Order: sequence, then C-alpha cells, then structure tokens
Amino acid sequence: MTQPRPLVAGNWKMNGLRASWKEAESLAEGMAAGKGANVDVMLCPPATLIAQFSSGLKDTDILVGGQDCHSELSGAHTGDIAAEMLADAGASAVIVGHSERRADHGEASDVVRSKAHAAHRAGLMAIICVGETEAERKRGDTLKVVSAQLSGSLPDDARADNTVIAYEPVWAIGTGLTPTLDDVGEVHRHIRSELRDKLDEEQASGIRILYGGSVKPGNAAELMAVTDVDGALVGGASLKADDFLGIISVYAEK
Ligand code: PGA
Repeated sequence: MTQPRPLVAGNWKMNGLRASWKEAESLAEGMAAGKGANVDVMLCPPATLIAQFSSGLKDTDILVGGQDCHSELSGAHTGDIAAEMLADAGASAVIVGHSERRADHGEASDVVRSKAHAAHRAGLMAIICVGETEAERKRGDTLKVVSAQLSGSLPDDARADNTVIAYEPVWAIGTGLTPTLDDVGEVHRHIRSELRDKLDEEQASGIRILYGGSVKPGNAAELMAVTDVDGALVGGASLKADDFLGIISVYAEK
C-alpha cells in the first residue's frame, strides 16, 4: 500500500485583493527553488482572484481552488457560484463543508454532499471538511461527530483522484491551539477506517486526509509526521508566502 502524495492547501478565506498576487508569485519562486518537492501545493483565494491566480500560475505546479460552490449548475441563486464557474475560471478543486460555512451559513452534511457532487460534475476535486467543536470534544463525541459528518458529506462517487478529506477541529481553527499528536492520529486513523468501510481498499487508502487548524511552520513537521496525515489545510499561515513555504518545505526536507 503506497502512501498518497501529500497535499498542502492554503485557504485564504475572505482575505486578499488583486495586489495579493505578489504572495502567489513569491510562493511560485520558493517552489521553483525546490521548497515544494514531494508535495502538491494549492492556493484557495477568494473567488474574485481565481482567474487571475490560475492564469498567473499556469506554468507552475501550484494548483488553484475555490472555497465553496453551489450545488446547482446555474440559476436564480444571487451571490452564489457554481462549481462549473470555478472550473471555468481555472480552479481544479473546491473546499466544501468548511466549518465556517457549516456555522455561518447553516450548511448541513446533506448540503455539503450535494456540493461535493457538483464539484465532481464540474471536474473539480472536492476537499470535504469535517471536525468537532470544543463542546463535542469535551463530551467525548469527537469520533461520533466526525463519522456522522463524513457519512453525510461523502458523495457516492468519491475516489482518491476526486476527493480529499480535511479534518479540522473547529476549536483549533485560527486559535493557535492544536490537538495532541495522539488525538490527531486517532481521528485520522478513524477517518481512514471509515473510508475503508465505504470504499474499496485502493480508493480508501488513496484518499488524502489533511489536518487543518493552526498549522504553522513551527508545528507542521510534527503534525505531518503523524500516520494517516497526508498534508494540511492551512488558513492564516497561508497568507504570507514565507510562512506557507515553511510548512510546504517540511516535505522537501523528508
Ligand atoms: P487556520 O485555519 O490555519 O487559520 O487555523 C485553517 C482553516 O480554517 O482551514
């Protein structure tokens, strides 16, 4: 059983203007200097920057993704963006079910699943986020919550080449807190075993399971060394190329 090639994706959230291109450019320079060896690297800027970033990065190995999509192809959904539109702008992936979408927009797992389906319909990789709140962890419900989100959000056509799972404990996002390495390992192992229950061995072992939540250059090496952690989904530390490269280069140094 070969380990999947890791992926480090930067989720810029609602940050970034056209002038932020300079960070993408510095990232590309760092990658060209060898810091991105042995790892797939992706930037998920706000939708307004996807076309600019994907055309500017077309001769690099950096992938571009969206942060959310609507489940339908088109129609009367003011303010929403179809997966096909992201693909048309040059994206190759989209994050779905981020905890900020689940919390701020009341997105339940059935909605997340339909968004993941839409991503696949458009030829995009779906990065499906799951993770417990602080209260759920304190109650001892972490694995139960993660299982329910995974089962509810994973589309039937999930495969290793079109789906990535991101485990992001809600209480670790943007807080500087991270679970212990044992706790990260426990949840990732659990997700892998749930994938094995749902999919054949090749697909279940090939789907990348990212860890997300306060990943920084200083803690990336130990987090990425945990079994079944196949990369990271990075928020704050992806906004500055130097910090992001500090995380990505963990794999180049392996
Ligand atoms: P953070 O965000 O790295 O700033 O904690 C991670 C995320 O929300 O994807």
